Amino acid sequence: MKIIKATNYDEMSKKAASIIAAQVVLKPNCVLGLATGSTPLGTYKKLVEWHNSIDLDFSNVVTFNLDEYVGLDPNHEQSYRYYMNNNLFNMINIKMENTHVPNGMAPNIEEECANYDKMISDFGGIDLQLLGIGHNGHIGFNEPGEYFQKGTHCVTLSEKTINANSRFFESIDMVPRKAITMGMLAIMQAKKIVMIASGEDKKEILGKALFGPITPRVPASILQIHPDLTVITTISL
Ligand code: PGA
Repeated sequence: MKIIKATNYDEMSKKAASIIAAQVVLKPNCVLGLATGSTPLGTYKKLVEWHNSIDLDFSNVVTFNLDEYVGLDPNHEQSYRYYMNNNLFNMINIKMENTHVPNGMAPNIEEECANYDKMISDFGGIDLQLLGIGHNGHIGFNEPGEYFQKGTHCVTLSEKTINANSRFFESIDMVPRKAITMGMLAIMQAKKIVMIASGEDKKEILGKALFGPITPRVPASILQIHPDLTVITTISL
């Protein structure tokens, strides 16, 4: 595990974007695993900036997002498809058909999950996975539980996650209770993982995830055994 300390959010974002940009330059048809939430916004902003200023080329890049709310239309402002389109995909030269976000409106969610895993493996797995971390240690929407869930699956969001994400919705009642999330297998099989975390409110959980026992009660703790994990953080651990 490599831990890179950043002095502030902008520096963290720039460092994460540099690693993603290097991946795109080294392997123009790479498969990126992408995350949503407030943490990656600065990273995506940098990538858009470099696309515009130095022609960082995404024309052959393929992406798979970690998760999506069940029941939110892709045009819903809080859907993760909407977030990705508006914060990254519409601003770079990626082909929309190369971008994948689980479909939270799929009539058969189980089939959607199985297809998602199949697509990831048909593309040869993820080259670089970008991750944030939730206050309860979740990665994607892999919530704390009794065991690590292997495949893409439907999850009932924890109260902590619903509370944390209610800031984006008009009221807490509007937050979907279920989501589709990539499972631990696709994440752990990513050749490289970059985790970003900022804000003192994440200090305790980040410490537990990186240095505590490896347990499904802190889903991110499994990353300790990944062979190529880089954590970029403003937090002094
Ligand atoms: P945040 O979410 O970036 O909005 O803090 C992180 C997460 O829940 O994975």
